[in-house]
Amino acid sequence: MKILKVRVWRGGADGAFQPFEVPRRESQTVLDVVTYIQRALEPALAYRFACRVGMCGSCAMTVNGVPRWTCRTHVDAALKNEDELTIGPLRNLPVIRDLVTDMREFFDKWARARGNFEGNKTRRDDFAKVLPQSEDRKQIDAAIECIGCAVCYASCDVVAWNPEYLGPAALNRAWTLIKDPRDQKGRERLRAVAGDAGCHACHTHLSCTERCPKHISPTRGIAGLKRATIFAFAGRPS
Ligand code: SF4
Ligand code: SF4
Ligand code: FES
Repeated sequence: MKILKVRVWRGGADGAFQPFEVPRRESQTVLDVVTYIQRALEPALAYRFACRVGMCGSCAMTVNGVPRWTCRTHVDAALKNEDELTIGPLRNLPVIRDLVTDMREFFDKWARARGNFEGNKTRRDDFAKVLPQSEDRKQIDAAIECIGCAVCYASCDVVAWNPEYLGPAALNRAWTLIKDPRDQKGRERLRAVAGDAGCHACHTHLSCTERCPKHISPTRGIAGLKRATIFAFAGRPS
């Protein structure tokens, strides 16, 4: 049987990598490897997952230096030409233990970017109709598929340099709501994302867009927010 050498982060921010040996299997994912370690070798290993099919966004980790969703990342793809797998917690978030990070600041930033839908209809009103072919809808077709995995957030150097920066996921969410014709708080939302820690802090490095497992381009949404804030404050339509 082929054996895969794996190093897994143990402990908090001051922890260290621990080596393991895992049986190599066909079509094995990185999450399969972590699960094998936890079930067969180290029951105390802390990690998160839920759906195993790329829906819940909870299984993201750093794999050989790259933030990835581990349930949809095959070992072959993660290894490339290396012969050892190194698995750690996501960057840019506090480590609770082992592979588990504290996601509070990530989601607090969604709230700071006013990432909650704010409409004005009641349950007695008819369904709102947003036509798939409408210009606004086409602009956010991909962006609304975000699963909140924080891969983009862990990839962003601006978050690393400036922990106040709202980050690509929160700004992507704000962009989807700015383009939602049912939402009523566009101006307030633009104000929330226009500050020093908002969309204008993005350096357009594109790491978020390159890494997003759902093929979303937060960079494109952030560029839209930059334009919209400038037009809003200059008193012109976006
Ligand atoms: S494009 Fe902007 S948000 Fe995305 S990784 Fe680069 S700096 Fe961060
Ligand atoms: S934009 Fe992509 S990488 Fe970022 S949280 Fe959403 S799905 Fe994950
Ligand atoms: S376990 Fe749900 S996205 Fe990976």
